[in-house]
Amino acid sequence: MKSKKNSLPNHIAFIMDGNGRWAKKRLMPRTSGHKEGIKTIERLSEKALELGIKYMSYFAFSTENWSRPKSEVDYLLELLEKRLISLSERLQKNDIELIISGDLSIFSDKLLDVFGEAMNSSGSGKGGVANLCLNYGARDEIIRGVNAAVVKGKKVDEESFKELLYTNGIPDPDLLIRTGGEKRLSNFMLYQLAYTELYFCDTLWPDFSNEELLIALENYAKRERRFGGLKQ
Ligand code: IPE
Ligand code: IPE
Ligand code: MG
Repeated sequence: MKSKKNSLPNHIAFIMDGNGRWAKKRLMPRTSGHKEGIKTIERLSEKALELGIKYMSYFAFSTENWSRPKSEVDYLLELLEKRLISLSERLQKNDIELIISGDLSIFSDKLLDVFGEAMNSSGSGKGGVANLCLNYGARDEIIRGVNAAVVKGKKVDEESFKELLYTNGIPDPDLLIRTGGEKRLSNFMLYQLAYTELYFCDTLWPDFSNEELLIALENYAKRERRFGGLKQ
């Protein structure tokens, strides 16, 4: 692959971390941080549209997050049930399509109906695509892909394997932003992030402002992506 200077990423993936600490700092229950975090998704999706960034992925619930206290997990599921439709309506106004990626089979019929309605009532995708990753785990995704290929009895290559992943049809992220100070991937998009530029910041997700997005974009624009080639 050719080396290229970057202007604007086509796809930004976010590990939205720090909701609990944001709430704790304000002496509020962790759950109120999750509620506040949804506003950041709405705001950034609109900013991306304004900037001309087509794809935004948001890691909202990992396959490992089930190990949290039941009360927090239940709250997160309720929050999805209550807020997903209004999120999708807001995206629809800007013609942003909502996609949900992950192993959704674990969710209740009621929640699956909400997911279906939210995806159907979102935009056509002309304004961009918001990919919400729920019960998403990269190892689970890769193992599923491998098993799907085995069942088909067909060998895969790097490109055709992508079609067996949850992110089928979505280009690999150009930029990954993790808020909340941790410098790890926490089982997110391990296949897709092979050549993604990584950006870590201490800001807690509900506080991640549009200005900080612009700072991350400036930082990205200065990087040289070589894809294994040589400096130009
Ligand atoms: C990220 O924020 C949101 C989810 C994982 C659902 P956290 O809930 O992990 O917040 P911190 O990292 O504990 O502050
Ligand atoms: C990563 O955050 C998962 C999501 C943002 C959905 P976590 O808070 O679960 O990650 P760890 O436990 O710090 O690695
Ligand atoms: Mg966390």
